[in-house]
Amino acid sequence: MGHHHDHDHDQRRDHRHDHQHDHQHDHHHDHADRDWSDMAPMLEAEAELFSPLYARAAAWLSKRQPHPGLVVDVGSGPGVVTCGLAEAFPGARVVAADGSGPLLERARARAERLGIADRFSTLEGDLPDVLGDLDYPVDLLWASRSLHHLPDQRAALAAFAERLAPGGTVALLEGGLPARYLPRDIGIGRPGLQARLGAVEAERFTTMRLDIPGAVEETEDWAGLLTRVGLRGATSRTFLLDLPAPLSHEARAFVVGVFQLHRDTLGEHLDASDRATIDRLLDPDDKVSLYHRPDVFVLAAHTIHTAEAELVS
Ligand SMILES: C[S@@+](CC[C@H](N)C(=O)[O-])C[C@H]1O[C@@H](n2cnc3c(N)ncnc32)[C@H](O)[C@@H]1O
Repeated sequence: MGHHHDHDHDQRRDHRHDHQHDHQHDHHHDHADRDWSDMAPMLEAEAELFSPLYARAAAWLSKRQPHPGLVVDVGSGPGVVTCGLAEAFPGARVVAADGSGPLLERARARAERLGIADRFSTLEGDLPDVLGDLDYPVDLLWASRSLHHLPDQRAALAAFAERLAPGGTVALLEGGLPARYLPRDIGIGRPGLQARLGAVEAERFTTMRLDIPGAVEETEDWAGLLTRVGLRGATSRTFLLDLPAPLSHEARAFVVGVFQLHRDTLGEHLDASDRATIDRLLDPDDKVSLYHRPDVFVLAAHTIHTAEAELVS
């Protein structure tokens, strides 16, 4: 979901605080591994639910980059999208690159289940430096919701661009719109709950950025940044996930997960009445909860920013 609904950053931050007195470990790697792998079920459920959106985005990218030999998913997490890219580009070798070993293990298991392990590999290490270990130039470098976790986003983009083959494409998934799951007035509490959650989440996102060691401030003009690191033809397009009510069991379970995370990570920043509303939404015994109400939907908009390396380098 756009960066405002990138729940994982809150989790990561909370754990950082839990471990801030643990001097035996290198914080950065310690918490990164453990927190991101805690997020695996949520990341997987989310990416699976959003797979029609990713398929349409990949089809759009295939017009710019019809036959990539090497596709790299940068900050792949558990590899749901990586495997989707492998399906969209059946002639490509795909690499899932991430800092979390446990998440990459899940990615490998998924590739095996799908019968694509022969053209799938993983690259574990800190981004963007680990991309230096790639053996070949990249035809399509996909980075969804990962760039914003790196301290110097412009430098990271420049490093991405450097790995591209002549004419290669970068596709960044960043921004879009905060997702909606409920109408403005849900019959309990004060109307506009999701708009208020979104405001708190935007604040938390800012704090998440500031908490990254070595964070460099950057204006989020993604197409402008792609151009500034030397790429051509920067353009952006937004893809919708529109799952109207009534939701499938999986989609409803996903929305429950989103609100559980909201309660855990944003709850303290909400007023008591909004907290009470969320508690009711999460109570399976309450008829107005997310488990039973008929009006739950998923409407999300993800933006992909893309640009190409020059044909001759
Ligand atoms: C929000 S998840 C995105 C996962 C997937 N791309 C998606 O869209 O569902 C961010 C991913 O970036 C990885 N990540 C964050 N910071 C990193 C770093 N400095 N080096 C390597 N990986 C990192 C995390 O391990 C996590 O898997």
